[in-house]
Formats: sequence, C-alpha cells, structure tokens
Amino acid sequence: MSSSRKAPLARRLSLGLSLGLSLGLLGTAVSAAQAASFPGVGRPATLKEVQAWDIDVRPDFLGLPKGSGSVAKGMEVWEGKCASCHGIFGESNETFTPLVGGTTKEDVGTGRVARLNDRSFPGRTTLMKVSSVSTLWDYINRAMPWNQPKSLSVEEVYAVTAYLLHMGDVLPDSFVLSDKNMAEVQNRLPNRNGKTIEHGLWPGKGLGNGGKPDVVARACMTNCEAEPKLASFLPDFARNAHGNLAEQNRLVGAQRGADTTRPAGAPAVVAAVGAAGVATAAPAAAAGPAPAVALAGKYTCTACHGMEKKIVGPGFAEIAKRYAGKADAEAYLTAKIKSGGQGVWGVVPMPAQGLPEADAKVLAQWLAAGAKR
Ligand code: HEC
Ligand code: HEC
Repeated sequence: MSSSRKAPLARRLSLGLSLGLSLGLLGTAVSAAQAASFPGVGRPATLKEVQAWDIDVRPDFLGLPKGSGSVAKGMEVWEGKCASCHGIFGESNETFTPLVGGTTKEDVGTGRVARLNDRSFPGRTTLMKVSSVSTLWDYINRAMPWNQPKSLSVEEVYAVTAYLLHMGDVLPDSFVLSDKNMAEVQNRLPNRNGKTIEHGLWPGKGLGNGGKPDVVARACMTNCEAEPKLASFLPDFARNAHGNLAEQNRLVGAQRGADTTRPAGAPAVVAAVGAAGVATAAPAAAAGPAPAVALAGKYTCTACHGMEKKIVGPGFAEIAKRYAGKADAEAYLTAKIKSGGQGVWGVVPMPAQGLPEADAKVLAQWLAAGAKR
C-alpha cells in the first residue's frame, strides 16, 4: 500500500479504477461498480479509512511520516509506557525477551553482530537481530505498547526508537531521530549486514547450493516410525514459571494456552470459556465467569497479572488478600487501576490504564470481594 500513499489523488483513483476493471467490475467509478455488484451491501472505504490502515514503513522509508523525536524524550516514553514490561534498560523483566544487549561498538562498524555466532552467549535480543531500522519503527508504531497499540504519537515513536538505539550504544544521548536521518541511522544498525536473502527460501542464488532449500525432507518408504515423535514441548522447569498460560491469552479466538498449573497431560481445570473468550476455572454447576475476569482479559490486565501468582505485577488473588476487609479498598483500587503507580509491590511501575471508570470499578469491587472466579 505504501507505493500508492504518496501518489497524487488522481493517480490513486485511476489506480483504483484500473484495479476495479482488472477484477472485471465495469463502470465509470469503482464505487459505482461495487454498489452495482453488491447492492445494499457495505460501501466503498473512504480515503481516510484506507489511510488509517495504510501505515506500513518500508525499508526504503516509503511510508515514514515526517517528524522527529529526541533520545531525551524517548527516555520519558520508555519509562512511562514500555519499561514495565521490557525493563528499565530494555533487558526485560524476565518475562519478555530482552530488546537491548549483546551488541558492541565494533558491530556498529561492521554491520554484523559478532555474538550471533557465539553459542555461549545467552539469548538473542531485538537489537542483535533487527536488520532495518524501519522495521523497528514500524513495529513499535503499529504494535506497542502491547496493551495499547497505535496509541503513540509520531514524535513518541521516533523518540522511543532513538532511545532504544541509544541504550544499545548505537546513538549518542543528544541525538534527535527524524525522517531526514533515518537512512544515516540505518548505516549504524549493528546487524544491518547480518541478514541475507541469498538462500533457498528466496529466489536468491543460494548459499553456494544453487538456490536449493537448506532443509531436505524425504518421504520414508521402509522401516518407518509407526508413531510420530513429539518435537516441541514445554520443559517441566519452565511450565508454570510465569503463571498459568491458559489465563494469559489475548482474545483472538478459540485457542487456549495449556493449563500450566498442572503437570503435562493432566486434565485441565480450565473447563469453561467465558463469553468474552476468557478461560476460567469452572467448579461443577458454576454460574458464568465473573464479569471482572472477562474485563481483565479484555483490557489485557492478564498480560501482567496472573489470577493467582505474580507475572509482572502481583497476582489478583494476592491483591485481594492484601485488601481484604479494608473499608476503602474499592475506592482505592479503582483509583489505582486508572492511574497506575509504583512502590506498593516493588519497583516495577504499573502504567495508567485507559479504561472507563465503570469498568475499573467492576474490577476493583471484584478484587475487594476476594477475586473469586
Ligand atoms: C504490557 C506489556 C508491554 C508493554 C507495556 C510494551 N511491550 Fe513491547 N512487547 C511486549 C510483548 C508481549 C512483545 C512480544 C509480542 C509478540 O511477539 O507478539 C513485545 C515486543 C516488542 C518489540 C519486538 C521485539 C522483537 O524482537 O520481536 C519491541 C521493539 C517492543 N516490544 C517495543 C516496545 C516499546 C517501545 C514499548 C513502549 C512504547 C513497549 N514495547 C511496551 C509487551 C509489552
Ligand atoms: C504493564 C503491566 C501491567 C498491566 C497491563 C496492568 N498492571 Fe496492575 N500492576 C502492575 C504492577 C507492576 C503493579 C504493582 C505496582 C506497585 O507496586 O505499586 C500492579 C498493581 C496493581 C494493583 C494493586 C495496586 C496496589 O496499590 O496494591 C491492582 C489492583 C492492579 N494492578 C490492577 C490492574 C488491572 C485491573 C489492570 C487492567 C485494567 C492492570 N492492573 C494492568 C502491572 C500491570
């Protein structure tokens, strides 16, 4: 879509028209043709609607909006909106993969991250792997913060991208990243030369093997295994390390995570699925899940709070226990959910939550009443 974004309106319309014609829709305008083909169904997307979706930034920076942001401003954005999940220094809170670390000043010179070849180095951070700065910008712009994607201003995206690169020793602390100097920054990205399309999965020449795939699958015809072997599993030590996976899914459909509070293979406690798709433990003949549980899923509180145990923030059961029987618990918790804060449970801050007051109240009431499911 980027290719058409910068085109003048007239060209875009004719592009749309020729697309319509090539799809076999005849008419003087695409909208007329669409209306005729599907009378009474929908309407053509407006230019504004198309623009709202058309946000991709290409490696040649087509689609990058004009603007800028400083490392200093990026530090504010980072500490306010990112550090709670990714750690003050981008090293993660042991919950998410680290974004920063593992790159050196030498890598900035060579454009290849030496440690990617060091098997003893623990982990592969984002800055070790990413090979185009446009990807970093685009991903943050479209997907972060995880619990409020697309909420950042253009300046904030530039700023926080600059700050991440500053933490990785790629940019000095006085730097102001902008649409004008993104290309220069690309030339400092530690792993800019570390990726190749010269292998069999791309129409490249191949890594010396003439463009063939680097994996060869041969059908077994004799003495074959009768049962396929399990090749991917969660090791026991990792199983419940960060709370119950079944309770941490985003609402994307019918998928459920494994109930990691029990050994592999044990029957899951997570038997019922609430109206909003939130998995809940269901004692026999229980009424539906507490509405608050559905809200905790809807507002992705569960990205940071386990039902029982701590993930980034305390488990809901732990919070309920702490405030049990306190007269002002409901009002206090409503305010805290809305405004976030720090220091009651540890140094990791909880970001302010942009949910309606009424929903914050339902959650607070539920917590004050024992966080039952
Ligand atoms: C509520 C927790 C949370 C917050 C807050 C958050 N992130 Fe993330 N971030 C995640 C998760 C989870 C992923 C992995 C998402 C996925 O793979 O679908 C991620 C992935 C990323 C990645 C890509 C990592 C990779 O190597 O693929 C970047 C870059 C990133 N976040 C930057 C940011 C920035 C910048 C902010 C603040 C503006 C932010 N995040 C706020 C949870 C969070
Ligand atoms: C990005 C991670 C994150 C998200 C998302 C998040 N929280 Fe928190 N929450 C925390 C952290 C960290 C704390 C501990 C803060 C402290 O020590 O003061 C916390 C604390 C709390 C507390 C206890 C407050 C206190 O003073 O004891 C409540 C209640 C709470 N969160 C509810 C929620 C609700 C409801 C949502 C969703 C609307 C939510 N949180 C989303 C990280 C998060």
